[in-house]
Amino acid sequence: MSFIMNHPLIHHKIALLRDKNTGKKLFRELAREITDLLMYEATRNLPTELKIVETPLMKTEAKMLPEAAIAIIPILRAGLGMSDALQDLIPIAKVGHLGLYRDETTLHPVEYYKKFPVDIAKRHIFVVDPMLATGGSLSAALKIVEKLNPPSITVLSIIASPEGLALIEKKHPNTSVFIAQMDEELNENGYILPGLGDAGDRLFGTK
Ligand code: PRP
Ligand code: URA
Repeated sequence: MSFIMNHPLIHHKIALLRDKNTGKKLFRELAREITDLLMYEATRNLPTELKIVETPLMKTEAKMLPEAAIAIIPILRAGLGMSDALQDLIPIAKVGHLGLYRDETTLHPVEYYKKFPVDIAKRHIFVVDPMLATGGSLSAALKIVEKLNPPSITVLSIIASPEGLALIEKKHPNTSVFIAQMDEELNENGYILPGLGDAGDRLFGTK
């Protein structure tokens, strides 16, 4: 199932993110803020458990996330721009890193790194990558994550192409996908139009 966010605050922040004159510092802040807003929606149905909390006045029952509830998997490297925000938002979450890059000529994903928390299979998994272009990288990541058979798999992405999202919906029908903005198409080099350019380069200043 896919959810496209339709919210003035997100539209405003995406407009600033797209702007080629937005520098690295603001770009990183905007990516973090949009990620937090996506996560607020994407965690809506997570289970909670009752704990006893003592306020200054009395003991009370309060709903909390279970300690081992969440794992975040950023697809390196642009996904790091989102997972940093989520670690601040949900400090009990553990993080698994998955290194994939898109071969510039074939556009096929190449895996180069994988390090997951030992108890990841018990956790609700949130895969994060700001750009869903052809969908090849995300599909490769989801194939790896599906083998763990976790309780749920959710994707957070900032901008998607219609082609990329269609591929994920077809190949990974049990994954929930939260997208901040759906764009128009891919160009001949597999870049999203109008898009925001290369998310990794803009986050890390590599071009
Ligand atoms: C970008 C992006 C996705 C992928 C999307 O990463 O962060 O992982 O491309 O493209 P796709 O849907 O066509 O697979 P890139 O390969 O540029 O690596 P980087 O994050 O290291 O810049
Ligand atoms: N990766 C990016 O960073 N941007 C795109 O438009 C497509 C893939």
